[in-house]
Amino acid sequence: MQIVSIQGQTGPSDIAVGERIESLPAFLPSDARRVIVTDANVARLHRHRFPPAEVITIGTGEKNKTLESVAHIYRELIRLEADRFTFLVAIGGGLVCDAAGFAASTYMRGIPYGFVATTLLAQVDASVGGKNGVNFDGFKNMVGVFNQPRFVICDLNLLKTLPPGELANGLAEIVKHAAICDSAYFDAIENNVSRIDALDPACIEELVLKSVLIKSQVVNRDEKEAGERRKLNFGHTFGHAIEKCTALAHGEAVSIGMVLAARFSQQRTGFPPESRMRLTALLHRLGLPTELPTAPDAVLQALGKDKKRQGESVHFVCLERLGRAVVQPIELSDLSTFLTTAFDTA
Ligand code: GLY
Repeated sequence: MQIVSIQGQTGPSDIAVGERIESLPAFLPSDARRVIVTDANVARLHRHRFPPAEVITIGTGEKNKTLESVAHIYRELIRLEADRFTFLVAIGGGLVCDAAGFAASTYMRGIPYGFVATTLLAQVDASVGGKNGVNFDGFKNMVGVFNQPRFVICDLNLLKTLPPGELANGLAEIVKHAAICDSAYFDAIENNVSRIDALDPACIEELVLKSVLIKSQVVNRDEKEAGERRKLNFGHTFGHAIEKCTALAHGEAVSIGMVLAARFSQQRTGFPPESRMRLTALLHRLGLPTELPTAPDAVLQALGKDKKRQGESVHFVCLERLGRAVVQPIELSDLSTFLTTAFDTA
């Protein structure tokens, strides 16, 4: 087990990679009341591993990443007479962590909280870095706060019960970390696809640790996304738009978003075509989609609903080479022209 630390403005956050859910009580203040927020799937598979606590259950899937789910958590906390010293633990994937983290950050102006991340996506991305929130009126992650969890437990054993396809979701974010920050990490992922497919425990632990380290270092330098943290959005401008107008999961949409962004980078920042092909091939080998499954019109419409847009442009993440990203203001009209052309020639 290894601890990676983030020093956030609201306090430190320790990410325990390789820790077991059974150790959760050791992370909790012994004198505080505990409330757990989870979803029905996680409760069915793992509730016998939860420490004694009141349990609040919210719905699964992106459609439940709403203020209604947050309101449900508030109502249950009120019903349970939770006070400002109550400790909330979210046990689940990205949705549970994002919604419960937001509820904890705002209930009674904020109560302490921590996460047990049960999906690869949550372990390497969603639970790390203190972004909490929900979607609103078709805008993704439109309402939320930066507020670090006291701890994040990444129990790699929990990944064994993930449904097929869910692992690939997290792998997309892992490839993203390598593509933007570390070409040697990219090489290592390429060289270990069969171990990843076989869920080799040592290999998965190395990936989670490396990705948590990369993300934590970026967040330590720019917690509130004023500059460098924007690089973590590589593939997400197109990815979020694709996610909104297709039935694809987050990592799948981000995978296609990264391929499109790499192609755009060829024109803008001279990203080498052979590196784009390596990126596309790796995503494909990891079981992720790499081609736009829909006509560009819907994606273009969804692009206009990007919360990160500033007037007619967005901070767009391009690659200069594998392991090196740059953020550039790009006109939405340029992305529109690019997407239409990319689709015509796909
Ligand atoms: N998922 C991107 C970030 O946390 O900044």
